[in-house]
Amino acid sequence: MKILVTGGAGFIGSHTVVELQNAGYEVAVVDNLYNASPKVIGRLEAITGKTVSFYKVDIRDREGLTKVFEQEKPDAVIHFAGLKAVGESVRKPWEYYENNINGTLILTDVMRKCGCKNIIFSSSATVYGDPAFIPITEECPKGTCTNPYGWTKWMLEQILTDLHTADPEWNVVLLRYFNPIGAHKSGTIGENPNGIPNNLMPYITQVAVGKLEKLHVFGNDYNTHDGTGVRDYIHVVDLAKGHVCALKKLEPGSGLSIYNLGTGVGYSVLDIVKSFEEATGVKVPYVIDPRRAGDIAECYSSPEKAEKELGWKAENGIREMCEDAWRWQSMNPKGYED
Ligand code: NAD
Ligand code: UD1
Repeated sequence: MKILVTGGAGFIGSHTVVELQNAGYEVAVVDNLYNASPKVIGRLEAITGKTVSFYKVDIRDREGLTKVFEQEKPDAVIHFAGLKAVGESVRKPWEYYENNINGTLILTDVMRKCGCKNIIFSSSATVYGDPAFIPITEECPKGTCTNPYGWTKWMLEQILTDLHTADPEWNVVLLRYFNPIGAHKSGTIGENPNGIPNNLMPYITQVAVGKLEKLHVFGNDYNTHDGTGVRDYIHVVDLAKGHVCALKKLEPGSGLSIYNLGTGVGYSVLDIVKSFEEATGVKVPYVIDPRRAGDIAECYSSPEKAEKELGWKAENGIREMCEDAWRWQSMNPKGYED
């Protein structure tokens, strides 16, 4: 079975390529390298010992993408390609709607014309907004997004759902990720943010490696056990394995399936700082700053549905997440630029 991975040179996509190849799938990658390095492909091949068919193609390039489908004839698509920075999406909404929505419309059009109607889509816990209840189940109300990035995820979930409703030959899996961190055990692939990181773990590892002076903790007056924000951090390799398990929901007649991919455990910002220091022996100086606009107090999943229906459960604990994030950062202080 052959899987086409859009955005396969990115953070989650690259880890998923490894797990797909380890599980015996053939893989082709499409990525425009807007937020990824071409070095990733060589590193993937070094990890798995298998070749990866790579196409530097933008998913909005209908002709280029059609050629890839004609050449590769994939059975299914795992669709990661998109823009993902929350703050940037507020400043550049048009670019986010255009890339994420238009890109997915062109991708799915090419797919149906080439007779491939199986797709797994990267959604996000962001569709739950400030969650109505915790732990968050898949039934938790949605559509209270606070930024254009979040709205693109919410709209794309609707678009893919409608495609399936109109044409039941489409098998669609929507995966709502919580907070992916960590890296592959080899330390050769990992998260490579542009500029100053927005997300917590890459910020911490850049403080630890000496690139940034100290962590700014955004608020310690939330209604949580220590006042700092609580999130459901999940090891990116566990997340990647969730995609391999989700492929079983693309069998003919599977229809539409929706899963949270999280651990079900919430850690505060200060819990993460402490876990990182314990796991690595490296101190992370921090200061308490005001809350970040748009942040919520607490967000963690109920991962029960994925366990019951996909037989998937996150295996790595917070210590492994910290150790592996640190191995990647310390072996590659400049990310893929080294
Ligand atoms: P990433 O930026 O590392 O990977 C996305 C990849 O898509 C990049 O390699 C980029 O070059 C490529 N890309 C972007 N637009 C493209 C286009 N038009 N054509 C071809 N390639 C294109 O991001 P990631 O963290 O690996 O996230 C992957 C997916 O998961 C994204 O859709 C993201 O929104 C979603 N997601 C991520 C998180 C997270 O915390 N990282 C959480 C929830 C959901
Ligand atoms: C953010 C996005 C969310 C996206 C997710 C994964 C926002 C508002 N939300 O979630 O849509 O799906 O990333 O990519 O940006 N923190 C600090 N200092 C920092 C960075 C973060 O204290 O320098 C705190 C935050 O306040 C939060 C926690 O760490 O409590 C996690 O933050 P982050 O990694 O940015 O993820 P989310 O805010 O959960």
